[in-house]
Amino acid sequence: MTDTDTQKRNAATEAAKLVYSGMHVGLGTGSTVAHFLTALAARIAAEGLSISCAATSHATGQRARELGIPVIDLAQPLDLAVDGADEIEFGSLRLIKGLGGALLREKVVAQSAHRFVVIADQGKLVGRLGAHVKLPVELANFGAERTFGRLTALGLEPAFRMAADGTRFVTDNGNVIADCRLPAGRDAAAVGAALKTMAGVVETGLFLEGCAAAFVGFADGTVRTFE
Ligand code: A5P
Repeated sequence: MTDTDTQKRNAATEAAKLVYSGMHVGLGTGSTVAHFLTALAARIAAEGLSISCAATSHATGQRARELGIPVIDLAQPLDLAVDGADEIEFGSLRLIKGLGGALLREKVVAQSAHRFVVIADQGKLVGRLGAHVKLPVELANFGAERTFGRLTALGLEPAFRMAADGTRFVTDNGNVIADCRLPAGRDAAAVGAALKTMAGVVETGLFLEGCAAAFVGFADGTVRTFE
């Protein structure tokens, strides 16, 4: 039986095989992507792979550079983007992302990619979105209390995400995050659409389309691909 971290590494290593010389690659954020960066750096060192990458967070950009992975600004379409996920809805490949706080840049990068795939351990597979995790919603600082009130009125039971020092967590974009409950029986697409009409909502962690495949590491050591 493999532990969760090994499942993440196995999935990341499998996804790193998708990268070829000449590609522009989007790099996600999180602990699973950290394994992907390591696998990518190993291929660059061993095979002389020539690629350029766009990062979804300061943390990923910094780590990639430390590993010798070329990072450039996102100015052109990407061939491939690889990211983690907090929940993967089994069957539909709809996702919740953003527990790491990088949801806005992650969605921009995902939508810039010809092919967007996620890598995860088996614990991320769920029968319905919202089963295990809250839905992160990035809010503009201006009027954040008012927007928060509108999330409450929608029945989403928001809570401002807090940083370790007790202040509100601030994203790489200078915004705050409200973690919301996606109640059973609520249609995720309808909730997502309602949120997108709300001024003050910058982005949501609902990734309802565009995920081409999920590479999932299992406790038995295998990696299965869901498409
Ligand atoms: C970052 O904002 C998130 O969307 C991550 O991609 C997600 O939280 C997965 O993180 P782990 O790979 O650390 O589980």
